[in-house]
Amino acid sequence: MIGDIVGKGGRKTLQKLLPTIIKENQINFVIAQGENSAGGFGITKKTSKDFFDSGVDVITSGNHIWDKSDIFEDLDALNSKILRPNNYPKEKPGTGVFFNNELAVINLLGSVWMGKIDSPFDSINNILNELPNIPIFIDLHAEATSEKAALTWYLDGRISGLVGTHTHVATCDHKILPQGTAFVSDLGMVGAKNSILGFDKDASLSRFFNGERKRMLPIEQGEMIFNSVLIETDNTTKKTTSISRIDEHTII
Ligand SMILES: [Fe+2]
Ligand SMILES: [Fe+2]
Repeated sequence: MIGDIVGKGGRKTLQKLLPTIIKENQINFVIAQGENSAGGFGITKKTSKDFFDSGVDVITSGNHIWDKSDIFEDLDALNSKILRPNNYPKEKPGTGVFFNNELAVINLLGSVWMGKIDSPFDSINNILNELPNIPIFIDLHAEATSEKAALTWYLDGRISGLVGTHTHVATCDHKILPQGTAFVSDLGMVGAKNSILGFDKDASLSRFFNGERKRMLPIEQGEMIFNSVLIETDNTTKKTTSISRIDEHTII
């Protein structure tokens, strides 16, 4: 599971590193967070194709999913492999649940500091009850580490893993809970090292000094970081046996 991929630099890093990572680790399935892939805000048909061409199987998203309408019809497609947080209103395009014979992916948005949104705790039992008995992985796109930990403890033993995204800051608290559910507060990002959250630092700095809202542009070149975790799950018990970080650097 790969953290927020930021702009063209992030997509190029993904294209450069992911095929080798998949091969070396014999990875069966790749889930990547795509909400910042199109110029830093949203997903488009083009950026999602870059993901799939690099070896990604399912793309999750978050609060920036509505920034570019180009992707809306793809969200609505049957068995879409591009998810939007499931706890947005039903009237919105798409769904936050993907599953096949082997596994399920659920995408949820946190309720803390994320605007008006249904709590991810409210509907989770209904979602899980409708899924077959397969390993289930959740991307909880949220600010608060406490909310991410709380949902994981609530679901320990009923899902194979929950990872947090959204902060773009990789955390090293990855672990397996007693009943076999993997957890990490935040995957991190795929984007520029010399940046703030993958974006030009000066635009961000000016907001803090004088409130001036300059356009946030993703950094497309230079030293890039790649943050992800590798999760190994037993197909029979659905319990996770290992979670480890795969963090790399490269120059784009
Ligand atoms: Fe993000
Ligand atoms: Fe986000």
